[in-house]
Amino acid sequence: MTNLFDLHDKVAIVTGGGAGGGIGHAIALGLARQGAEVVVPDIDQAGAEQTAKEIRALGRRSLGLRCDVSQPGEVEALFAALDREFGRIDILVNNVYTFPSRVRPAELRLEDWEQTLAVNLRSYFLCAQQAIRRMLAQGQGGSIVNISSIAGSSALGRGNFPYSVSKSGVNQLTRELAVEYAGQGIRVNAIQPAQVLTPSFKAKVLTNPVFNEKLKPRLLAGIPLNRLLEPEEFAGPVIFLCSDAASAITGVLLPVDGGNLALNAGGNHIWPTD
Ligand SMILES: NC(=O)c1ccc[n+]([C@@H]2O[C@H](COP(=O)([O-])OP(=O)(O)OC[C@H]3O[C@@H](n4cnc5c(N)ncnc54)[C@H](O)[C@@H]3O)[C@@H](O)[C@H]2O)c1
Repeated sequence: MTNLFDLHDKVAIVTGGGAGGGIGHAIALGLARQGAEVVVPDIDQAGAEQTAKEIRALGRRSLGLRCDVSQPGEVEALFAALDREFGRIDILVNNVYTFPSRVRPAELRLEDWEQTLAVNLRSYFLCAQQAIRRMLAQGQGGSIVNISSIAGSSALGRGNFPYSVSKSGVNQLTRELAVEYAGQGIRVNAIQPAQVLTPSFKAKVLTNPVFNEKLKPRLLAGIPLNRLLEPEEFAGPVIFLCSDAASAITGVLLPVDGGNLALNAGGNHIWPTD
């Protein structure tokens, strides 16, 4: 039987896929294990080069380079490097994000609002635009996966305001691009993670007593699987969406959230008898 998940001969870009990060790193390695060649732009040059080294160790071509994907000139340079080294693109995974200091909306500084939207939303547009132009010229379709968040569909409070707004923008960017380019075989989908145990999450949050005593039980009460997620759990859903197994799927916002978005705020997976 044909392997529906095979990605050999495909060239992918995973933004923010540097080894210092969490989800993008796992996705870049996952795509490479399925056969894809992977370009890894990241503001962390050492992390990008490390991921590329790990991918080459799997026997795939890879290029890791420093790039701030929120900056139009740097995105143009990234795609020029792609053209030179690989000559095509089949898969784009938009994954980068930033999160400003947690303040209430009334105290939010305009520059933090602007920076959040630039990294979390503008970069997704800039990279998608460059990728789509090339996919159209190649005439063989393509797949774009945007890493959104549960925060794009429901409000989280506690200083998530600009982040959540940017992610709701990612959701609608996904649907609009899917509708615009379905006719040319370019599929555009999004993934909505809940809280993931990335290296930065572990370093910043797991050591915080307030998180462990108060916030973690609240988070887990909203996640029917009753656990935080691992970065590696995002490779499979992205491979699926980029592969022929998902050839009829476009414009979808796929929660990879342990059931979080399925659960009503008034509901709970904890029985009084537990
Ligand atoms: N970790 C979670 O709990 C969680 C939950 C929901 C959604 N998400 C989403 O998943 C995606 C990945 O998150 P993560 O937790 O793995 O992040 P991370 O911080 O572990 O990694 C992000 C990577 O992106 C890079 N980066 C940041 N800004 C960049 C820029 N302007 N240009 C290029 N590279 C840049 C960083 O250097 C880093 O390598 C994000 O879109 C995030 O919103 C994460």
